[in-house]
Amino acid sequence: MNSRGLALLLAASISVVTTAFLSLVNVSVNALIVTFVISFSSSYLLIHMILNFLIFNEIKKMQNAIKKLNNKEIQFNDPEGFNPLNPLKRIQSEIHAYAVSKQQEIDQLKKTENFRREFIADISHELKTPIFSAQGFVHTLLDGAIEDKKVRQKFLKKAAKSLDGLDILVQDLLTLSQMETGQIKMQYERFNVFAVVNEVFEQLEGEAEKKEIDMGFTEFSNNQVFVVADQQRIYQVMLNLISNAIKYTRKQGSVRVGFEKRKKEVLITVSDNGRGIPDEDIKRIFERFYRVEKSRSKDKGGTGLGLAIVKHVLEAHDTRIEVQSKVEEGSTFSFALPTA
Ligand SMILES: Nc1ncnc2c1ncn2[C@@H]1O[C@H](COP(=O)(O)OP(=O)(O)OP(=O)(O)O)[C@@H](O)[C@H]1O
Ligand SMILES: [Mg+2]
Repeated sequence: MNSRGLALLLAASISVVTTAFLSLVNVSVNALIVTFVISFSSSYLLIHMILNFLIFNEIKKMQNAIKKLNNKEIQFNDPEGFNPLNPLKRIQSEIHAYAVSKQQEIDQLKKTENFRREFIADISHELKTPIFSAQGFVHTLLDGAIEDKKVRQKFLKKAAKSLDGLDILVQDLLTLSQMETGQIKMQYERFNVFAVVNEVFEQLEGEAEKKEIDMGFTEFSNNQVFVVADQQRIYQVMLNLISNAIKYTRKQGSVRVGFEKRKKEVLITVSDNGRGIPDEDIKRIFERFYRVEKSRSKDKGGTGLGLAIVKHVLEAHDTRIEVQSKVEEGSTFSFALPTA
């Protein structure tokens, strides 16, 4: 039965009862007919309106909302808004809000689940490579190569190099997970970032020279840039950013670090004129193990943990890293630190 049928039935019974009562008193037939017609039409109109607008419409909307929820096409903004006078509307908007929050939760869980699966696959792959190669060298030695002094030395060196790589990987992972769980607290102090960057330059001098890369500060960089931050962690950040800039820039390229003083902070930029990062990769490069070149080749690049560490360290400093990049033109990474 729909709202019109129900309204007709109720209106008919109301008008019959009213007319019957009136017929007990001495009135003319005409008056009875007029009373019947008026009471029937007015109650029909009223009941129909009430049923339609207050109940059936709202129930229909609720059914639609549930249908949408089943089809996962729920809208994230509630178009009806909140109406305190209409309890059915309120229930409807509560259902809507509940559905939206559940849908968001489900999406989040799915994302986490995917992330976990990918993470385990990546981590196993990254661990397998150095273990496998060290294992190969050791077994070859055990199988007889150990007799040859020259081969022994060479293989042991290679095995050691693989294990060193494994050590760095595990250290990086440990740092990341400790930072995520908040076990590592930042040790704030006042220091000159200019000096820190100079140390990084010294450490990476060899790499830059190999590729004949011109590495230095921007033209107007002050050599006294005092900030308040965790010096060791900022060293790590600069090391990762500058070594990326060298790694992903072709021979004879240029890498520049700049400081731009603002009111209460200094903006630190690391720019290169290297190969740049495609738009679709930019938002993912800070994920653990994410690398633009999918082949996971080791000749260029490492494991893809560097920028994940950078992001975490800067988040722990209440600041964030920004990237601007154009393919074949270069990239600029920047972040701000509070000045002392
Ligand atoms: N300056 C840059 N220019 C071009 N691409 C970059 C630059 N910096 C990072 N990338 C891209 O982002 C990816 C992630 O960088 P990240 O530092 O996290 O990993 P990685 O350098 O490959 O390995 P790791 O730093 O762990 O040794 C890189 O693989 C590279 O593709
Ligand atoms: Mg890196």
